[in-house]
Amino acid sequence: MLEELIVYGKRKLQGEVYVSGAKNAAVAMIPAAILSNDICYIENLPYIDDVISLSDTLNEMGVSCEFVDRHTLKIDSRNMNNFCATYEAVKKIRASYYLLGALLGRYKKAEVAFPGGCNFGTRPIDQHIKGFTALGADVVVEHGMIKARADKLVGTKIYLDVVSVGATINIMLAAVLAEGTTIIENAAKEPHVVDTANFLNSMGAKVKGAGTDVIRIVGVKELSGANYMIIPDQIEAGTYMIAGAITGGDVTVHNLIPKHMESISAKLLEMGVDLDVGDDYIRVIAKDRLKAVNVKTLPYPGFPTDLQPQMSALLSVADGTSIITEGVWENRFQYIDELKRLGADIKVEGRVAVIKGMKSLSGAQVCATDLRAGAGLVLAALAAEGKTTITNLQYIDRGYEEIEKKLNAMGAEIVRVKK
Ligand code: EPZ
Repeated sequence: MLEELIVYGKRKLQGEVYVSGAKNAAVAMIPAAILSNDICYIENLPYIDDVISLSDTLNEMGVSCEFVDRHTLKIDSRNMNNFCATYEAVKKIRASYYLLGALLGRYKKAEVAFPGGCNFGTRPIDQHIKGFTALGADVVVEHGMIKARADKLVGTKIYLDVVSVGATINIMLAAVLAEGTTIIENAAKEPHVVDTANFLNSMGAKVKGAGTDVIRIVGVKELSGANYMIIPDQIEAGTYMIAGAITGGDVTVHNLIPKHMESISAKLLEMGVDLDVGDDYIRVIAKDRLKAVNVKTLPYPGFPTDLQPQMSALLSVADGTSIITEGVWENRFQYIDELKRLGADIKVEGRVAVIKGMKSLSGAQVCATDLRAGAGLVLAALAAEGKTTITNLQYIDRGYEEIEKKLNAMGAEIVRVKK
């Protein structure tokens, strides 16, 4: 059933919000669990469509994957019997590419349909393939399937030409059961890379250096079961911090890791927001009109590209002109036309957006073009006069657990309606 969000804007948010577990760690760990021959429990999972789809996919592959409660998945891959994930199974999830590394690691063969998922231009996986090949796999792409096969995987040194979260994690997955030592150089350092390495280590893997740009993996013969709790979602936390800022509100975002939020906190402070940073919360107190700032998105610990659309929304109502430079993805400004429907004044030239802050935005009908674009539109709608209708919610539901409930609990007025 198609749904839309109706947002009545100009409510100052006040109150508390609790961040769910990290989506991008969850979508790596669920496939990673099949590397074990035993039962894994993954706790603090966000209850979002990407997690549910991955769980369904594993079930179709003969893994017993069941929710013990809303946020805990029990994954038992002892009777797994399939090394192939079809298009039907994976079309909704970009992160299905992690099945490649996990299946290759476990069976030394994998067939996975080309990933689906977010919709913001080309998303190559050449660095994943380069890594698998270096470990000794033959990788071919035919009939829409990526097929990888190896007699055995042998550790080696792999230098990534671009800093890639997906390639770093996928190579870790393939390498934990390989013979000898794998070294990934120019590795991604995102919190979810570290969390996935910690999860693998809790199963008995030997991964060191995650969180730096050199990761060293000493292959082991087998992995055991594990019980692991996922870290909080850096991007969801940042989204709610920006929600507080864009409404001139007073919002405490609980259950986050302040260290992960430093690039976002720094920008909000520069804009004139007051922050009270605790051990596991940040309180955001914002004045009515914040100062314009320039932002460049970069791999961690830089400003995350996954908060770029939310930041564009905030800068659309800041005092002055801001420049956002997208340093990760080639084409992540497709949603700007939707923001313009709400009255934003933005010019895009390649990877640069020039945003002239307006006194206010005005409600309109808009369409989420991808997950984070959708979150950006929700935030812009909170700051707009009158009513905004947001369609294409399937993108937002892929990555945010009950976004309207969490915002409404702080005073927003958002209604989900069936079309
Ligand atoms: C992850 O995607 C996230 N997804 C993305 O979040 C996030 O935007 C991205 O990392 C960057 O932080 C998941 O973790 C599931 P990359 P990923 O490989 O791993 C180039 C969200 O909204 N590249 O780090 O696919 C690529 O074109 C999603 O939650 C290659 O050239 O991203 C890009 O410019 C959207 N060859 C850059 O590297 C490759 O083989 C970073 O991509 C791989 C990537």
